Parts: sequence; structure tokens; C-alpha cells
Amino acid sequence: ARLPDIDPKALSITKTTTPKLIVPPEELIFGRNFTDHMLTIEWTASQGWLAPRITPYQNFSLDPATCVFHYGFECFEGMKAYKNSEGQVRLFRPDKNMARFNKSSTRIALPSFSGAALIELISKFCAMEERFVPAGKGYSLYLRPTMIGTQRTLGVGPPGSALLFLIASPVGPYYPTGFKAVSLEATDYAVRAWPGGVGNMKLGANYAPCIAPQLQAAKRGFHQNLWLFGEEEYVTEVGTMNLFAAIRDKETGKKVLMTAPLDGTILEGVIRDSVLDLARERLAPEGWEVSERKFTMKELADAADDGRMLEIFGTGTAAVVSPVRRIGWKGRLVECGLREDQEVGEITKRMKDWIEGIQCGDEEHPWSIEV
Ligand code: COI
Repeated sequence: ARLPDIDPKALSITKTTTPKLIVPPEELIFGRNFTDHMLTIEWTASQGWLAPRITPYQNFSLDPATCVFHYGFECFEGMKAYKNSEGQVRLFRPDKNMARFNKSSTRIALPSFSGAALIELISKFCAMEERFVPAGKGYSLYLRPTMIGTQRTLGVGPPGSALLFLIASPVGPYYPTGFKAVSLEATDYAVRAWPGGVGNMKLGANYAPCIAPQLQAAKRGFHQNLWLFGEEEYVTEVGTMNLFAAIRDKETGKKVLMTAPLDGTILEGVIRDSVLDLARERLAPEGWEVSERKFTMKELADAADDGRMLEIFGTGTAAVVSPVRRIGWKGRLVECGLREDQEVGEITKRMKDWIEGIQCGDEEHPWSIEV
């Protein structure tokens, strides 16, 4: 018999008796403040998904032998809720996050679940926490759905129990004082992801190993790692973001916006997918070629040397877009098309405006879902 899936109708709600003060939007620091409540849903191998609960935000009590602490049974999502000018709360493409969450959880032997059911619960949660959703462009409630294995055992095997939980953090614009273009270190001394690996999954285990290389890059004056792969030095991602490069094609002179293909080493970013869709819809008619293809660090350096480099940016839910000024590579600096007095390129800025316009409801679009 099929075990019970997540059932939004079984939700129980216990409200906090000590509501938090709202932090002024300009004082928000990414991921530091949390709302009054959390959502938890337990799963066991014999009973399936149990009744969802919204409770006051609180600590967990877990046995030290719980498998998440030992073998990394953890995956998560990053998504945001926005308030439009009428005060209505909206989600951005939540179905994408649910599909990826299920891919991540099943890859580490954690249970799958109905994405539609979790979206219903996330919506209810966001409506309840409405006062924490800041209004205005660039402001949102960052949502962190997470799943962990909770079986108490040092035995290495599929967890017999799991916990899905949701916490939420009000956030402001990633760059509160306007864009700051970042510098990257093309990283050849550490590898983020590899064919047959799990780099395309949102596993916590993919993030911790990237911090020591980031500190190394920082010691040499770079903000982030540009993750390369293989002897060919294929360009894959930047920090925790996908990467886009706009260059002029060497042969045709045509403007090309390109990003690495989803070959299993690239995170299937929701903003990545949205940038590709918008570029095909809105830039292609202006003569742009939009391409998901492998490209190398040398190709970028050649484009910069030939005056064909236009701009480079990262994409992710947290920052939406992040402009890149230069890349350190083999002892030289590859300039990425920005003038000294410029922090963002034209395409990067237009993409940010389009996406934020849809997210906050200024532009009516099927990607924006009312809670
Ligand atoms: C992103 O949105 O760019 C992320 O990868 C989220 C980060 C906080 C893990």
C-alpha cells in the first residue's frame, strides 16, 4: 500500500505567545532574522508523512547519534515570498523549487513528497507570517525548506525517519547601496562538482567544502571562486551561483549570452532558467544568440583580449544577479567589460529589472503565484 503523502488538511497550528518585533527593512542582514513560526512535517518509513505542524520558531532536540550529524543526510531549497504594491503576498515559480527538492531528497535516500501539497503549506505559512514580508523592490521573505534524516543510528543506510521543516528570514536587497561588481579567482586547486557527482543537487554537503577555497581566494583579494572543471578549464559556476557570459562571437560577431549546460555538474537554478527564458523571449529579437553550451576560461580570456567581452554575471535566488568585474586566472586579470566607474552591465541590469518586476508583481506574469 502507498504510504500517506503530505496532507495540508491535517495541519495543526500553535501560535506564538511572544511575537517578535519587525526589524526595520534597512537593517536586515541576509539570513540573520527569522519569523515567529516554523513548519515541520515528520516522516517515517512505516507511516509515511505525518500531520504538518506550524509552531513557534524553536530549537530542535535531536539525539547525538542522529544520522544527519554523521553522514550528511541534508538537502534544502532557497525561494522567496514577495509583497506587491497592494500588499498581496506572492511566490516565484515555487513548482521549480519543489521539483528540485524532490530530486535532492531522493538522491540521498530521503523521502519524496507532493510538491503541490508543500506549496499549499508554504502559502499558508507565508500568509500567517505576512507582517514579516517586507514590501518594495529587492525586499522579500527568504524561505528555507529543508529536509534531514533523523534516524538515531551510526549504521550507514537509508534513514528510517526524516524531518521536513521550513524557516523564513526577511531580507533586503543583496547590494543595499546599489550593485557592487565582484572579482573572481578562477579556481583550479579545488573542484566543486564532477560528472556523476551531486553538484546539480541542493545538498548541504556541496556547500561546506567550498568555504575553505573561498577563504584562499579572499586572501588573494578575490570575492568569490570561479569554479572550473577539467583540463580544458570549462567554466561552470561562481560561488553559490550559476554564471552567464555575454560576448561577441569570434566568427559571426553576433552577441551571444551563454551559460553552462545542465550536464549534472551545474545547479538547476530557478533564476538561471528564468534568465534563459527571458533572454530567448526578449533579447533574441534584438539579435542576441542565447546558448546553453560548454565554454572554457581561455575562451573568456580571448574574448577580453579581442575586445569581444561584453559582460559577465552570476545568478541565484539570494542576489538575483551579481555583476562580475574581473577574473584572476593564471597570474593575469581578465577584465569583464565594465568601465572603472561602472558596477553593472546593461544586460545584467535589464535582467535584474525584468525578474524583480515579475517577482514583486509590477509585471503580471504566470511565474508569480498568489499565496
Ligand atoms: C543563491 O540563491 O544564490 C544561493 O545559492 C543561496 C545561498 C544562500 C545558499
